[in-house]
Amino acid sequence: MRSAQLPPFILLRPLPRLSRLGASEQLQSPETAAPAPVIISSVIDFGYSLLRPLLFRLGADRAHDFMLGSLARAPRFWARMASVGSPAPAPELACRAFGLKLASPIGLAAGLDKNAVAIPFWPALGFGFVEVGTVTAHAQPGNPKPRMFRIPSEGALINRAGFNNAGSAVLAENLRRLHSSGQWPKIPVGVNVGKSKITPIEEATQDYTTSLERLQGLADYFVINVSSPNTPGLRELQDQKHLEQLLPAAVQAACGTPVLLKLAPDLGDEALLSAVELSIEHGMAGVIATNTTISRDGLRRDPGETGGMSGRPLWPLARKRIEKVLEAASGRLPVVGVGGVHTAQQVLELLEAGCCAVQLYTALIFEGPGLPARIERELMGELERLRACVAQN
Ligand SMILES: Cc1cc2nc3c(=O)[nH]c(=O)nc-3n(C[C@H](O)[C@H](O)[C@H](O)COP(=O)(O)O)c2cc1C
Repeated sequence: MRSAQLPPFILLRPLPRLSRLGASEQLQSPETAAPAPVIISSVIDFGYSLLRPLLFRLGADRAHDFMLGSLARAPRFWARMASVGSPAPAPELACRAFGLKLASPIGLAAGLDKNAVAIPFWPALGFGFVEVGTVTAHAQPGNPKPRMFRIPSEGALINRAGFNNAGSAVLAENLRRLHSSGQWPKIPVGVNVGKSKITPIEEATQDYTTSLERLQGLADYFVINVSSPNTPGLRELQDQKHLEQLLPAAVQAACGTPVLLKLAPDLGDEALLSAVELSIEHGMAGVIATNTTISRDGLRRDPGETGGMSGRPLWPLARKRIEKVLEAASGRLPVVGVGGVHTAQQVLELLEAGCCAVQLYTALIFEGPGLPARIERELMGELERLRACVAQN
């Protein structure tokens, strides 16, 4: 049992800038590049507050590779570090979504741990569920680097990673090893599946079902990703004619494991409504809204890079699209809200609007690994509102 005694919060200013600039640093003027203060509430948070200024001197790609490489080498060590002073989600935060029991309604969104190399680590941050991937049937390198760009002053990221991943056969092996070594976490793990770049759009269904068949029995839920902007043609799969073929095939290949559909915030109302109706018709377990956006609305300092934007500037758009999806689903299909979430108030707002759970990614980069636990502590102060959401959903 981890200690429920929490050290007091400490407000720590970032360390001074180093002189050597990383690749994506050109995007940041000195005044806008200064990271926001980090609130320290755990050992891992403290470590990150020291590390972050150094990481932010590196290009976003190198920082990402360094962090994930370290986690992959010793996920259980880092999990132990993360859990010092940071309690597991309180039992009051446990909830049910798409047939699964989540330790809390806050999950890690897809894209950070594409090959499931750090699974034992994520629950230690307080996440109630975690999504790995996107994985594709064929291993692929993704787009050339640099392909991730931070805009620290706006809490935003632009990425055009392009599903860099080791392929679903390797992912299945990683998951099998976790299962057989008893390291499978106590929280649900979802696998997000996409289309390989080399696969033509007409053969997309086969590409998805190949991955789902390899992963059968190894994940708690699957996500069909038809919404990332960095694989040419992928988002066409959100059209009715493609979904009509893809969704039933995916549900069948998943063999009873819940399958969700992840949608883009750039879809028009009609396409959103149609995707929701088709999801209901074909027995999908839920919808995740939203992925990154190709729009740059709300971004004051557009670096002019192509790719999907995530983080704070995405929130207003994601919030509106989530509302539309909720309206279309009208209680018939669980909806997971994602896009620019970084506070407990946003989590509550989405749950009160009708979402069954919430995910985040970009805020973790800017606000540190203590963020899920911090949000959860704040949620504990709003238990009445939370209970009302559970009753309503
Ligand atoms: C660097 C990066 C890579 C991502 N890769 C994926 C991915 O592989 N599959 C996916 O479904 N979403 C991916 N996403 C989208 C996130 O899962 C999430 O939907 C989006 O970033 C909005 O949430 P956020 O503002 O909390 O980051 C990625 C996001 C980022 C920032």
